[in-house]
Amino acid sequence: MTAHSITVTVNGKREYLTIPSHMTLLRMLREKLGLTGTKNGCEAGECGACTVLVDGEPVNSCMMLAVEADNREVTTIEGMTDDEGGLTRLQQAFAEHNAVQCGFCTPGMLASARALLDRNPHPSEGEIREALVGNLCRCTGYLRIIKAVQAAAEKGEA
Ligand code: FES
Ligand code: FES
Repeated sequence: MTAHSITVTVNGKREYLTIPSHMTLLRMLREKLGLTGTKNGCEAGECGACTVLVDGEPVNSCMMLAVEADNREVTTIEGMTDDEGGLTRLQQAFAEHNAVQCGFCTPGMLASARALLDRNPHPSEGEIREALVGNLCRCTGYLRIIKAVQAAAEKGEA
């Protein structure tokens, strides 16, 4: 098995890791760094539960090799906080609008929604739906999630 040394910034912290060539970014985050907030739903690029931000863009971490993260910046749910380490307005909006039930999809939803609001602070409902199309939720029925993203956008902060 071939091993690679990589340098990756995760949630603002530089990490120096040796990883097997076949290891996915999802497994690197969960198994090498203990960042289990990123969920493993299907490991096949279908559910979006594993979505994280790589250089600010949402990525299914189960479909990306860890070696591809070399010299890049990864943000997981553990790194998505306000300046004091608390919930962001987007996260508060999810709670206020009952957009979370079991919570399994939530880290991935929040990553996709945050990327959307970062590039488009005032998205239409259609744009929100399009941004979240790759994130499946078996609990809330999506409307509450869309409302939460709209509410966060109205408050002007992700
Ligand atoms: Fe990656 Fe489902 S776990 S898309
Ligand atoms: Fe349960 Fe979305 S809140 S899967």
